[in-house]
Amino acid sequence: MSPPVPRADAIAKVTGSAQYLADLPFDGLDGAFLTSSIARGRILSIDATAARGMAGVTRVFLPGELPRIGPIDHWAAGQANLPLMDDRIRHEGQPVALVLATNGLVAAEATGRIEVRFRSEPARASLEGWASEAVEVEDWAASATEVGSVETGLAAAAVVVEGRYRTADRHHAALEPAAVIARWHGSELEVWVATQWVFGVRAALGSALGIPVERIRVRTPFVGGGFGAKGSTWPIEILAAIAAREVGRPVRIVLPRSQTFTLHGYQPATEQAITLGATGDGRLTAIRHHGISAGATGEDYVEHTSVGSRSLYACPNIETRDRIVRLDRPQPTFMRAPHEGPGMVGLEIAMDELAVALALDPVELRLRNYATVDPTSGKPFSSKALDWCYRHGAEVFGWARRTPAPGSMREGGSLVGWGMASATMSTFRFGSSARVTARRDGTVLVETASHEIGTGVGTMLRVVAAEALGTDPERVEVRLGDTALPEAGGTFGSGTTLGVGSAVRLGALRLMAKLESLAAEPAVRADEYPELLALRGLDQVSEMGVWSPRRGESGHSMHAYGAIFVEVRLEGRLSIPRVTRCVGDYSAGKIINPSGARSQVVGGITWGIGQALLEDSRFDPATARFLAKSLSSYHVPVQSDVPEIEVFFADEYDPHASEVGARGVGEIGAIGVGAAVANAFFHATGIRVRRLPVEVGSRA
Ligand code: MOS
Repeated sequence: MSPPVPRADAIAKVTGSAQYLADLPFDGLDGAFLTSSIARGRILSIDATAARGMAGVTRVFLPGELPRIGPIDHWAAGQANLPLMDDRIRHEGQPVALVLATNGLVAAEATGRIEVRFRSEPARASLEGWASEAVEVEDWAASATEVGSVETGLAAAAVVVEGRYRTADRHHAALEPAAVIARWHGSELEVWVATQWVFGVRAALGSALGIPVERIRVRTPFVGGGFGAKGSTWPIEILAAIAAREVGRPVRIVLPRSQTFTLHGYQPATEQAITLGATGDGRLTAIRHHGISAGATGEDYVEHTSVGSRSLYACPNIETRDRIVRLDRPQPTFMRAPHEGPGMVGLEIAMDELAVALALDPVELRLRNYATVDPTSGKPFSSKALDWCYRHGAEVFGWARRTPAPGSMREGGSLVGWGMASATMSTFRFGSSARVTARRDGTVLVETASHEIGTGVGTMLRVVAAEALGTDPERVEVRLGDTALPEAGGTFGSGTTLGVGSAVRLGALRLMAKLESLAAEPAVRADEYPELLALRGLDQVSEMGVWSPRRGESGHSMHAYGAIFVEVRLEGRLSIPRVTRCVGDYSAGKIINPSGARSQVVGGITWGIGQALLEDSRFDPATARFLAKSLSSYHVPVQSDVPEIEVFFADEYDPHASEVGARGVGEIGAIGVGAAVANAFFHATGIRVRRLPVEVGSRA
């Protein structure tokens, strides 16, 4: 591993000088939404007279008063249905009025003076209640797979475990809420937006507004966390652009916290039916994983809980299926470690149950079923060091000292449990490009339309460029977040290091070749740029790097992996479960910046602790509403919920996934933790939890 490089943006962030969208200078109108209190029905009447009369209120748009748009058919858009187009209510929290005012507080105040009467219709609210209406949806992953015959595998099994596993609705809870500024210059649109994908926003806006994308420029400043909620384009960006065009002034919308719970996605509740069969010595003979997730009426997001089960363990008979149940609720979306994040809760608790049924150590069970080729596709893996993760993690954690019987370990009067789980996540590869420039002052400039959403992308790219050019990361400046820069993929799917990193590496290598030909000598150093460029009469020399996943397309199965070990203690008179120790080992290809990668994984594990013990957005079946709309009622982990976390990387070089040897670390940390905690809870108490988060007072 290369030495850790401190974050380029660290000082700006801790001193408060880093600019987020709401910090940008702004000279237009602030927008605020009035949202629906009902989940399904129609608007009977709406009266905005009082709001329109308020000092500072410039305009109020009611349903049907904006030019009609949609449905939006573009994969960069988070949802197809745009609110404010008609009088129909499709989910609670749907905007029913947009107020523009000279001040954001006035706009928000004015929404409260609008009188709406709804005609409510009975809402379809419960995932379990409507499970029989689950449907398959076509998207990026197959909705069903089958190899061999699970029935045959189960007939041959000595031991079968079967269970139903559930995960809760969860919200992204990014520190920075969704925010946008839309400004028209004649027929050209300039948008500033807190996003993970400037080119996606441009494409979705072009499609929604029916204008060529060349007339749209999208930029993003520092983004205060995205986690998937800012990966797609949502109605607020489109409505801000239309409203700005209607009033002929710039419009800014920053969502209040409460509206972030219903207006840009969340992780939907899932229910997973899993059956595992194994021989007496613990070889899997059958894996069946059927998942359903909650979806929105008229929309298509699928939480693919079964994808991990397709590739993780060697097994001749695997059957998987993912479907959605469309309900009257807001549209869900990708949330940090989508798919395998909830899916590994099911599979990895089931594996623990199998280990117990076989009286086999859980680590040993996983090693006995280690896959060396993808059991569903038959393809070899691009690189995989998960066996090292199991062994190294177990050793560091001290797993050999675990006594297997539930309730057999105590310390200072507290029940203690040790649990573990595997983590796996599909590798996503997005084509990207970058321009790399050697400048006369002896520095390097990297330009690419990637994004700094808090993950350390800017620093990682400095390291990649510096390494290819044989210079110091401090000499490299990185410019991001603007569709005027070379196109890059979205900053999601843990795909930025491998995709954008590859483009920067290719650009830097071409730049070096050009510098070498200018200098007629090898390995030109950055401190030689001033003299060389002066000699050739050049201000700077640039080269483009373009990386496509088709480059090196190799027929490999690509995934990130991990093994996570946790200790749970039941503390105090209420026996509240707490994670008190945690070791995670990861196989994600080459680690570009060790401190950045570690920080990503620690963040991911923290999310996993939230999934395991805290995050549970209760959806009231009577009203089809999320009950929590603030961070005081929707709980995410705080410092005292998170122990010291030990993170290790296999740091192997993946020759197939990318040009930089890396896969990705942004999300893998959030996977497996939930199951490991549930398994540790079982080990402490003998109570098997099959729904996360673990509830205090859980009973067998
Ligand atoms: Mo993430 S859910 O890939 O932003």
